[in-house]
Amino acid sequence: MDVEDIEIQLFVRAMQLRHGYDFSDYAPASLKRRIQQLVRTHDAGTISGLTTRLLHDQDFLRKAVEGLSVPVSEMFRDPPVFRALRDKVFPVLASYAEINIWQAGCAHGQEVYSLAIMLEEAGLYDRTRIYATDFNDAALAAAAEGIYATRDARDWSRNYLEAGGKHSFSDYYSARYEFIKLDRRLRRHVTFINHNLVTDKVFCEAHLILCRNVLIYFSNALQDRTLGLFRDSLVRGGFLCLGTRENIDFSPAAAGFTDIDQAMRIYQAGGSGARPLAR
Ligand SMILES: C[S@@+](CC[C@H](N)C(=O)[O-])C[C@H]1O[C@@H](n2cnc3c(N)ncnc32)[C@H](O)[C@@H]1O
Repeated sequence: MDVEDIEIQLFVRAMQLRHGYDFSDYAPASLKRRIQQLVRTHDAGTISGLTTRLLHDQDFLRKAVEGLSVPVSEMFRDPPVFRALRDKVFPVLASYAEINIWQAGCAHGQEVYSLAIMLEEAGLYDRTRIYATDFNDAALAAAAEGIYATRDARDWSRNYLEAGGKHSFSDYYSARYEFIKLDRRLRRHVTFINHNLVTDKVFCEAHLILCRNVLIYFSNALQDRTLGLFRDSLVRGGFLCLGTRENIDFSPAAAGFTDIDQAMRIYQAGGSGARPLAR
């Protein structure tokens, strides 16, 4: 084993023993790239230098989590996913008096606000509670603010229309020079919570779980475990949406789900382990 791979193992172990963050089952190639990037960003010289800081500098944990977390997102990312949710999932959600949605891996909040807009336009938002989770506190704080760069708004406006938006994206924010601030009303049914998909447990009974561009960073074993967590969190008949990049095909957890939209990876829970419908 080369020295750098040994250093990575020691760094991951230190992260776990000292701070309880478990990266041991992340996909090795992308984890290695991000650890190498951390070395450069923090001028640590070597990965062992990072490990020393992790062990002796309490404030460094936050920087390490931020560097390993990749909170990249956009509003209405992959617009056809939102269109499919609106056409195939919302009509079922509309039959519930109260709707719980878990959006796992919310990064800076773009996805959760996109969902809030779609639910608002479908007349469902006032009976919805969205739990938006991430393990990166800095990302959660930014998400709660809902402030983004104006230069992104034009692309997001196009995404919004492709997703089937009924108005104008600009109806949902106020612009100030280089920043836009989303309407505070969009936050009214969102709770942002720190939750680690690797180490934390089920925390709500969800009618819909949206988790996109997160499992790609996990090993197959960890993806499988996370899918089990999602299955246990869904009411029977609840939906899981993984978007265009991930799927459950390889996983034993697939047995508990039925395909609703193959391309957008939307599944419905209905296996024997699923919970009864909560109305
Ligand atoms: C690339 S972003 C995806 C954002 C959004 N879902 C999207 O598709 O645009 C991945 C997010 O997953 C979060 N994440 C990674 N590992 C996690 C874990 N173990 N528990 C919770 N969140 C995690 C990261 O912090 C990051 O914000």
